[in-house]
Amino acid sequence: MITVLGAGGNTGGRVVRRLREAGEDVHAVGRAATRLTDAAAHGAEPHVADMTDRAALAAALRGADAAYVLLPLDLTAPGYRSQQDQVGTAIVGALADARVPRVVALSSLGGEVASGTGFLETLHEQEQRLGALDARVLFLRPGLFFESFLPSLPAMRASGVHHDTIDPEVALPMVATADVGDVAADALRHPGAVGVREVLGPEDLTLPEAVARLGAVLGLPGLRYERAPEDVMRGVLVEAGLPADVTEEHLAMNAAFNRGAVRSLAGRGPRTSSPTRLEQWARTLVPAA
Ligand SMILES: NC(=O)c1ccc[n+]([C@@H]2O[C@H](COP(=O)([O-])OP(=O)(O)OC[C@H]3O[C@@H](n4cnc5c(N)ncnc54)[C@H](OP(=O)(O)O)[C@@H]3O)[C@@H](O)[C@H]2O)c1
Repeated sequence: MITVLGAGGNTGGRVVRRLREAGEDVHAVGRAATRLTDAAAHGAEPHVADMTDRAALAAALRGADAAYVLLPLDLTAPGYRSQQDQVGTAIVGALADARVPRVVALSSLGGEVASGTGFLETLHEQEQRLGALDARVLFLRPGLFFESFLPSLPAMRASGVHHDTIDPEVALPMVATADVGDVAADALRHPGAVGVREVLGPEDLTLPEAVARLGAVLGLPGLRYERAPEDVMRGVLVEAGLPADVTEEHLAMNAAFNRGAVRSLAGRGPRTSSPTRLEQWARTLVPAA
C-alpha cells in the first residue's frame, strides 16, 4: 500500500491516478473529503487529515510500503514560515511513528540551498528533516511549475502583460505538474529510488518566451512579459491580497533565480527532462469548442 499526501492537489492527484492504474492500493490523504472524490473514483481509500495533525497522518500512513509527501502552501494560515514548519514537523513525525520505509518527497530545484531563496528555504529545511529519518528517501526537485502562471491569468487577459521581477534574460526549467506526478508514481513503485531526482520539463524558457507561447495558445497573441521593479511588484502583490510575508518569499525566490542560485545540478538529459511542453499544457486551459 502507498499513502499519498496532497491527494486532491496537482501532483498528488496525478500520483494517485498513476498508482491506481498500476494496480497499487492507495491511501489518498487530503484535508477535505470533497477534494478526494477523484481519488476515490479511481479506487483509492480517502483519508481526511490536516497535515498539521501528526496522529491523523500517522493513521493514514500506517502499513504503507511507501509515501508521497509535500509541503503545501496554505495562504489562509497566518505566517508562511510557521505554517511550513508546523506541517513539515508533523509529516516527518508521522512518517517516523508509522515507520514508513520509503518516501518520495516533493522539493524543488534549489532544495540544496540553505538561505537566500525565499519560498524554497522551507523546502531545504524539510529535506534536512526527512534526511534524518530512518527511511530511504528520494527528493524530487522540479523546475518552475507551468501551473504557477494560473493565478496571473486573469491579469494577463485583462492587461495583455505579465509582470514579475524575474530577469527576462534568465531561462528557467519549467515543468508540468503532471510530469512531476508521473515521475513520483514511478519512483514510489521502485524500491531502489533514493537520493535526488530533478524534473526539468522539456526545455528551459525565459519569461518572455513562456508568456508569448501562453498568449499564442490562449488567443492572446500580443501577450508579453515586462519586468517590474521589486518595490512596484511588492505593491501589486499586496494590493492583490497576497500576505506581506508570502510576497517577500516570492520576491526573494525571484532574486535567487536572477542570480543563478536556483539551478539544475544534474544538467539536462534524458533522465532529468520530462515530456509535456508548455503549449500542450496551455491547450488544456482552452475550453473545447
Ligand atoms: N509552484 C512551483 O513552481 C513549484 C516548483 C517546485 C516545487 N513546488 C512545490 O510544490 C509543492 C506544491 O505541490 P502541488 O502543486 O502538488 O500542491 P497543490 O496542488 O497546492 O496541492 C496541495 C494539496 O495539499 C492540500 N493541503 C493544503 N494545506 C493542507 C493542510 N493543512 N492539510 C492537509 N492538506 C492540505 C491542498 O488541499 P486543498 O485541495 O483543500 O486546497 C491540496 O490538495 C510545494 O511544496 C511547492 O513548494 C512548487
